Amino acid sequence: MANEDKFKKVISHAKEYGYVFQSSEIYDGLSAVYDYAQNGAELKKNIRDYWWKAMVQMHDNIVGIDSAIFMHPTTWKASGHVDAFSDPLIDNKDSKKRYRADVLVEDYCLKIEAKINKEVAKAEKRFGAAFNKTEFLATNGRVLSYQEKIDTILKRLGQSLEQENLADVKALIEELEIADPLSGSRNWTDVKQFNLMFGTKLGASAESAMDLYLRPETAQGIFVNFLNVQKTGRMKIPFGIAQTGKAFRNEIVARQFIFRMREFEQMEMQFFIKPGTQKEWFEYWKETRLKWHNSLGLGEENYRFHDHEKLAHYADAATDIEFNFPFGFKELEGIHSRTDFDLKQHEKFSGKKLQYFDHEEKESYTPYVLETSIGLDRMFLAVFSNALVEEELDNNTTRTVLKLPAVLAPTKAAVFPLVKKDGLPELAKQIIEDLKWDFNVFYDEKDAVGKRYRRQDANGTPFCITVDHETLENNTVTLRYRDTMEQKRVNIEDLKTIIRAEVDVKHWLMKM
Ligand code: GAP
Repeated sequence: MANEDKFKKVISHAKEYGYVFQSSEIYDGLSAVYDYAQNGAELKKNIRDYWWKAMVQMHDNIVGIDSAIFMHPTTWKASGHVDAFSDPLIDNKDSKKRYRADVLVEDYCLKIEAKINKEVAKAEKRFGAAFNKTEFLATNGRVLSYQEKIDTILKRLGQSLEQENLADVKALIEELEIADPLSGSRNWTDVKQFNLMFGTKLGASAESAMDLYLRPETAQGIFVNFLNVQKTGRMKIPFGIAQTGKAFRNEIVARQFIFRMREFEQMEMQFFIKPGTQKEWFEYWKETRLKWHNSLGLGEENYRFHDHEKLAHYADAATDIEFNFPFGFKELEGIHSRTDFDLKQHEKFSGKKLQYFDHEEKESYTPYVLETSIGLDRMFLAVFSNALVEEELDNNTTRTVLKLPAVLAPTKAAVFPLVKKDGLPELAKQIIEDLKWDFNVFYDEKDAVGKRYRRQDANGTPFCITVDHETLENNTVTLRYRDTMEQKRVNIEDLKTIIRAEVDVKHWLMKM
């Protein structure tokens, strides 16, 4: 399936099977805002729990908090978001459409990358089994010149953004003859910076109301609580504070489904360390976070690191873990060495000392911070899009199956009576009553059993359990595995152990 078709299928499947709906759909929706439906909310919760377990529960020196979305407005002055949290935007004078200037250039590069992929596919066809992709990419003249072009463009873009040289970003767009993707017009305005924070007001009367922002990241709620947590938790450096929660950004280019939203959820962890140790902790967290991703089995080849050319105002090193989404490799998680920027800024703006006294070294210092920050919605999209496959079966039919990692699947098992009579529904419901203490389970008696299997395949349910007439005789049921479609006869009392072995968080996290 072509990537574009695959992505369309992901979006329609997410709606059809109760994972993600457009927000306020009956009013024609709200751009880049989505609701998680009955299955989506479960999948999202399971991803969040999987992250929390790995980061908080499994680390003796990391604790979790849940800070408020509203924060004192000075927070955002101190953090630099009021002055510097902006994207370069450009308007097309003919179509009146607004774009992110850097995204226009990056999309141009993606088109060149598509040409490279085309060359690879052609060569693969020509050379067959003897084809060596790595060698081809390193030696083919056409590929090398495409790659050089991409590198030159991105380097210039990175430098211009870093130096705030917006005139050069516009010059680059003009030199590359980039046109408005909708209208084809090249009639562009100058590039301007656009602040991404949403403003709101606190208070009842117009005179006394205070201007607030909806937080654009959860991280600042951790920084302002650094000392509270350190003191009350008697935390010793190195230690981490984690939290998950909503963040809001008025994105200029909000598209690609739940990849870039205006209201989204982050899972962030700030790791407070001794100044001078940031390089080793940067490497440690890069490796640890990649292991977490790989434990879910989405395919090691689907991840890569992308080191930042342009560093955020607070960072001395930064990398993205990129994932191979249906629209190509894009940022899934950021790992940032944030220095002591945030704590020092909050110290300056609040007038409160935010230092750590090291009892062993007998000295006070402002800790450095290593941050890991992942978008929960992006992780959802990575898991969901990777799981959705169309499988050709031996009998020349296809099945749609959502091969979600069992630990994350919304429903762990579906229980069916083979027929709606002879006491089979009652027995199936008894199994449900017993299993639901431990797992999310689902009862279904509608349609032929083959159709029910297909529905659960498409829903991502790892196990189906069928009660038939033999069950009445010997207490055994048919257990069907989603991915292999293998069926075996098992005792009802063994069901819990078999299911737990596959869905247990420990079983998955142990792979880290
Ligand atoms: N505290 C650091 C921070 O917020 P970021 O790179 O701006 O860093 C971290 O965001 C992660 O949040 C990203 O890697 C991405 O997964 C997610 N994210 C950022 N903006 C998003 C958006 N508009 N929609 C969905 N997820 C987003």
